[in-house]
Amino acid sequence: PSPNLQVEENWVLSGENCRAKGGSPGFKVAILGASGGIGQPLAMLMKMNPLVSVLHLYDVANTPGVTADISHMDTSAVVRGFLGPQQLEYALVGMDLVIIPAGVPRKPGMTRDDLFNINAGIVKTLCEGITKFCPNAIVNLISNPVNSTVPIAAEVFKRAGTFDPKRLLGVTMLDVVRANTFVAEVLGHDPREVDVPVVGGHAGVTILPLLSQVKPPCSFTPKEIDQLTDRIQNGGTEVVEAKAGAGSATLSMAYAAVKFADACLRGLRGDSGIVECAFVASQVTELPFFASKVRLGRTGAEEIFSLGPLNEYERAGLEKAKKELAASIEKGVSFVRK
Ligand code: NAD
Ligand code: LMR
Repeated sequence: PSPNLQVEENWVLSGENCRAKGGSPGFKVAILGASGGIGQPLAMLMKMNPLVSVLHLYDVANTPGVTADISHMDTSAVVRGFLGPQQLEYALVGMDLVIIPAGVPRKPGMTRDDLFNINAGIVKTLCEGITKFCPNAIVNLISNPVNSTVPIAAEVFKRAGTFDPKRLLGVTMLDVVRANTFVAEVLGHDPREVDVPVVGGHAGVTILPLLSQVKPPCSFTPKEIDQLTDRIQNGGTEVVEAKAGAGSATLSMAYAAVKFADACLRGLRGDSGIVECAFVASQVTELPFFASKVRLGRTGAEEIFSLGPLNEYERAGLEKAKKELAASIEKGVSFVRK
């Protein structure tokens, strides 16, 4: 049979239970926006994850090819492709985790907020699908501007009566991944041994690395703090400019998304002590959403940690971050309410 025919067979939704081919228990994961710059490497890495038994790849373009390609990997997850809005239902039914990297990326000179007009509608439509077809799934939202798309998703879920704040997570893991890398470079450490909490949000000054809380404990000069903070806050722009019109971070983002999704799946499995940063509904500050460390468990973000002791530099950064975040959150909420 032609590769396309094989893919079409894969589109038929079977009633099999949540078991990997090898017989081990696993989770069902959907990627919405699976044909994109992030979606493709993310799909590849999720196909390699032994916690995944079923992997659904949904996009409005090119899923037959991506699905045929990924499905030849000799790992246990069953891969199925879904193309266009008529197949969204089949992509979503039964999913435990939905990862959303659908939407347009930045070009040089743009802010993430410049993506709002296109991506807000995409995220709203996809989340309406989630309320109908897998209202209990954990959602990992990657599409920018995250500071507004997470409030949009929450508003859609609230309207449908399916909102559970524990299950909606804006992905800010790339900020942590970058912070670990840049801090390790300065300290001369292995990045895998460095842990930098990054709180606030996912755009410019709302990205707030807490360099006073780096593990293992260390100290920086004021100049190093300025330079590190600036590089972490502008890491996305560094990539957008280097790609010179060909998009934004995709490979490091796919890596970060998989790191975060894997933490969510280990939490769902019941592993203890899984703590990562994410942008969630929050009471840590007066804002309704905020990124901070969360403990991931069987029901999602089960505990949201307070910020811990901040130094003067970080307190000033927090005030700036909150001001911009408040406006971005409000923009997302009113997009759905209007
Ligand atoms: P891309 O253009 O390469 O891919 C986007 C994909 O989304 C495309 O395949 C497109 O067909 C698909 N798509 C568009 N509308 C859709 C719809 N209605 N339903 C399903 N799929 C749809 O872009 P990319 O580089 O993969 O980036 C995707 C998004 O992720 C952008 O908004 C980008 O800003 C964001 N991003 C976020 C982070 C983060 O840290 N949270 C990091 C990098 C990029
Ligand atoms: C990133 O941080 O790389 C993403 O948010 C993409 C972007 O536009 O910078």
